[in-house]
Amino acid sequence: MKKYKYEVFTSKIEENIKNGILKAGDRLPSIRRIKQEYGLSTSSVQSGFDDLMFKGLATSFPRSGYCVAVGTKNVNDETLATLNLTPRNAVFRDNISLTSYRKQHAETAFFNAATPSDLFVPQKLVLRTMQQIIREKSAALLRYYPSNGSDELRELIARRSAQHGAAISMDELLITDGALQAFYIALAITTEPNDIVAIESPCVFSMLEVIASLRLRTIEIPVRGEGGLDTEYLKNACRKNNIKAIVVTPNFHNPTGILMSGETKHAVYEIAHFHHIPIIENDIYGDLYFSHSRPTTIRNLDNEGLVLTFSSFAKTIAPGIRLGWLAPGKFFEKAERLKFSLGRSVSPLNQELLTKLLNTSSYDRHLRIFRQQLKKQALQLVEQINRCFPAESHTYTPAGGYSLWTRLPATIDMQLFYDNCAKSGAYFAPGAIFSFTDAYDHCFRTVFSQRIADIHLETIANIGNLLKKELY
Ligand SMILES: Cc1ncc(COP(=O)(O)O)c(C=O)c1O
Repeated sequence: MKKYKYEVFTSKIEENIKNGILKAGDRLPSIRRIKQEYGLSTSSVQSGFDDLMFKGLATSFPRSGYCVAVGTKNVNDETLATLNLTPRNAVFRDNISLTSYRKQHAETAFFNAATPSDLFVPQKLVLRTMQQIIREKSAALLRYYPSNGSDELRELIARRSAQHGAAISMDELLITDGALQAFYIALAITTEPNDIVAIESPCVFSMLEVIASLRLRTIEIPVRGEGGLDTEYLKNACRKNNIKAIVVTPNFHNPTGILMSGETKHAVYEIAHFHHIPIIENDIYGDLYFSHSRPTTIRNLDNEGLVLTFSSFAKTIAPGIRLGWLAPGKFFEKAERLKFSLGRSVSPLNQELLTKLLNTSSYDRHLRIFRQQLKKQALQLVEQINRCFPAESHTYTPAGGYSLWTRLPATIDMQLFYDNCAKSGAYFAPGAIFSFTDAYDHCFRTVFSQRIADIHLETIANIGNLLKKELY
């Protein structure tokens, strides 16, 4: 059964591309023609083309419609050969680390920091709500709050999770100082130093820092364009090694923006279940989907407390609001004790702020607008990169979140590339910091959580020209 009306025409186009009937560069039928032929509304046809573009199958040209995209090959699949199943120490090569990288690059530099920019933070809403809370609660905000977090906030977060199918009860939740603290707790209670953990490859460097600080060893499992994590690879890794935790960001993985398919979520859970390995699931980008509905979590499949899911509001509201949560499954008692030792309670002001925002429709309203803007910007950037960069480069079209992942040809001098980008004000995060291996030295991450204007698209075009003319 078709899920969306537009699939009556997109499924035909997809099939024709797959069978080679439609080839790269071929024109696709106009919106008007599809409307007439299938009796669809303009917005349905438009959504269909958006879907094809998100799948990397179509590309648009201003005022001249759509055509089959060039180079639908997936960058992530090309990295498979370079990763092996040997556990390695969690040590960054050449001492590249998050802290040294951050010192050289301002958080505000363009395309760099994966946080909502000032323009996308709902500043008025947050500041007004904070003032209201200070007036209402006054001195009560100066006391310790319960170590696990306020009852009302945990209840609201539990209710929100139920809306997308993950039934977490409020008693299973711990409020944390952001997602990274939740991740630290989850990892620390499921492993000992020197243990092996399976992680996604590439993986965001802030999570790699936590893994390194706990002195763990890692096996990097490639993330694929189709469906997310390579489960055959994971299966082999679990068979051959004593893996103590599987760390995943299924919903809009950072840095690729890939959404793990439902099938892969099931497969990952089955593998973990078979070997009794806890899954640590990061759902920080789950609310930033570009399709019609929010994806579910792996936690949703689990009745045995094997999945430890966490998230925060750093990516959806503001990174300065230090407030996250962890649902640690059957590891609750250990998690509760570690949480207490890391800081008795999370800021009462932040807890009350989130309680107020989640209690009204204001958070959802903000999310709706934010998602629309991000989706538009994702398409603009992917299109521009595809149009302007050398044909041998590949960019994955994200399904949500706000990062893009590009691989450049191996002939490019990457240091020269970053130096030239910095001169034009573009600071991409280098691929090398997303792995303990050298698999991503020719990749980089582009963040689009700041407002993209013509000048930024021009910068991309200039960088593309430079790549074509000078850096080869
Ligand atoms: C995937 C992912 N998880 C966690 C974090 C950190 O989140 P928080 O600021 O809530 O600790 C980040 C951002 O750095 C991230 O990209």
